[in-house]
Amino acid sequence: MTNTAGPGTGEPELFDTGEWGPTGRPLPDLPEPTPPDPTRPKRALIIAMCNQKGGVGKTTTTINLGAALAETGRKVLLVDFDPQGSLSVGLGVNPHTLETSIYDLLLDRHTTPAEVIVPTVVDGLELLPSNIDLSAAEVQLVSEVAREQTLRRVLAKVRHDYDIILIDCAPSLGLLTVNALTAADKVMMPLECEFFALRGIALLTDTINKVQDRLNPELEVLGILGTMYDARTLHSREVLERVVQAFGDQVFHTVIRRTIKFPETTVAGEPITTYATNSPGAAAYRMLAREVLAKCPGA
Ligand SMILES: Nc1ncnc2c1ncn2[C@@H]1O[C@H](COP(=O)(O)OP(=O)(O)O)[C@@H](O)[C@H]1O
Ligand SMILES: [Mg+2]
Repeated sequence: MTNTAGPGTGEPELFDTGEWGPTGRPLPDLPEPTPPDPTRPKRALIIAMCNQKGGVGKTTTTINLGAALAETGRKVLLVDFDPQGSLSVGLGVNPHTLETSIYDLLLDRHTTPAEVIVPTVVDGLELLPSNIDLSAAEVQLVSEVAREQTLRRVLAKVRHDYDIILIDCAPSLGLLTVNALTAADKVMMPLECEFFALRGIALLTDTINKVQDRLNPELEVLGILGTMYDARTLHSREVLERVVQAFGDQVFHTVIRRTIKFPETTVAGEPITTYATNSPGAAAYRMLAREVLAKCPGA
């Protein structure tokens, strides 16, 4: 399969024109992204990574898409919005030792983003970490005025410092996720290429529709990303086929294959783009970054 080659490997790259992709559609020939115009004032595009099912690749996609976008010269902020703190762990931050976290930004007006945001091993990639305190925030926010807009207010303070902000949501459709969807311009749904994957999508779509109606009319679905894909199994291919039948062009051409490299990167505390820079997994997330930028011309 020519599809696994990465830049510099001497093999054909992903998305050569005329090639058919794993989603059963011809692959577009997308240009290499150019860095953003440095003279243009920044106003970050905010993308929420959302699926109430756990273990579908939300956190992995947030880290690696974020790193791939940062490689294009964009300034990227990753927001850990899961009390489990997996995004923070995956970037080498120990959630238990944090003095301040996103919790403080949500509930204490005197904490500033600069006190909480930390750098990562990747140039231009920064992290707003979280830990278990965030689960208390979910409870405390219930009694606040405009409780759904809390994250939006926090991100408004940093929006002009970044080109792109990615929010890694918790595996639930509770108040935290509603906050993420209210703060976002776009929502991206990672979907495991597995039999029951489609079941939860109706519920997620329903939540997105409600947020669009009541809280954030600007919110748009950016796309659905097939993850944990195993090209060797008919099953994986069939699931992907059904997803494309159901969602058409909302499905990204890029599909993320199942590989042990991703769990390894979590242990290493860095993105695959630095941990295994020439791997097919890194190439896939770079290609996803191209697709995202092609769909969002201003970003
Ligand atoms: N493409 C992949 N291939 C193999 N393992 C993966 C892949 N993507 C994620 N994983 C692993 O699966 C587990 C769940 O992924 P994660 O990104 O944390 O999902 P979520 O955030 O949706 O719960 C993690 O251990 C992660 O390392
Ligand atoms: Mg996660």
